[in-house]
Amino acid sequence: MITTENFWQNSENEKAKLIKISFENGAYASFTNYGAALVALAVPDKYDVITDVVLGFDSVEGYIAQDAYIGAVVGRCANRIENASFTLNEKTYKLYANDGANHLHGGKKGFDKYYYDYEIKDEAVSFYRVSPDGEEGYPGKLEYKITYGFNGSALMITYEGVCDKDTYFNPSMHAYFNLNGCGDIKKHLLKIYGEEVTKTRSDNIPTGKIIKTVNTAFDFINFTPVGERLTDKALASTKGYDHNYVLRGEKFHSAAELVSEKSGIKLKIFTDMPGIQVYSGNYLSALSGKRGSVYDAYAGIALETQFYPNTPNMPDFPQCLLKADTPFKSATLYKLSLITQDSAKGFN
Ligand code: BGC
Repeated sequence: MITTENFWQNSENEKAKLIKISFENGAYASFTNYGAALVALAVPDKYDVITDVVLGFDSVEGYIAQDAYIGAVVGRCANRIENASFTLNEKTYKLYANDGANHLHGGKKGFDKYYYDYEIKDEAVSFYRVSPDGEEGYPGKLEYKITYGFNGSALMITYEGVCDKDTYFNPSMHAYFNLNGCGDIKKHLLKIYGEEVTKTRSDNIPTGKIIKTVNTAFDFINFTPVGERLTDKALASTKGYDHNYVLRGEKFHSAAELVSEKSGIKLKIFTDMPGIQVYSGNYLSALSGKRGSVYDAYAGIALETQFYPNTPNMPDFPQCLLKADTPFKSATLYKLSLITQDSAKGFN
């Protein structure tokens, strides 16, 4: 069943809607047309208690006020672009620098800060927007669409876009997961389907080197608690994980698995993207979230499938160049199940 309701406290934001998809077993997912954000994703835990596994806010005002990109779609390019600039077809483009000298998650007013038109069809909702030529410094008029839909027992997010000029396009979705619905994620077990990370400088821009994770603080080749090595000196400058993993596998492949033994909930992510940014919510601080919760550091973990950071300036990385008038399509699947019965109890 799909319902739509108002998602605001202040009538200045009366355009904000909450679109909720509910399932017979009590599971539900909800989305807002502000930032095309995933607001809730709730499934029965091992005790059959419906548990909302993503961070978020009770109304649009929380989404407008935050600067942690909680739940939102980020773009045109997720992650960082060095010196907020790139050169394309011999022309240098200057983007908005919102992370020191660098550009982060689309700039001052990225995809997370707009209201979207939307369409509900079957058990799916699509958000549409046109990003005008020159928005945040990027070339070309980009028409894009984000669709959240259910594929069996899993949430599928599909990104589509087409631009009238050559441009760079690397959208992602910035949900923070907490499979207990509250507390922190330090005891969550994480496994990444890759054994390398892109090495970064102190401002989190890749150096171009790709390093092996085995036996380092970055090693999630086998399930390991997220909190086990947070104080390792390799994580000191970022206060925790804020790193891009190089995923192995081509086409549609496994990216990561996150498990909470406490709730028994398991998340498995599949994607067609070459990388995943693992961000352990290091800078969350005293943020008032849903249902009276307060989000501090490590309250949730963002697992952002995407091209690697700074790709427009790194010719050796897989490229996110979008050629003029050429459709772009990419998808990421989030499958929730219980560890006790590997078959998905998720959404049905
Ligand atoms: C970035 C972090 C940043 C955070 C903001 C993450 O995707 O990698 O460096 O602080 O987003 O919420």
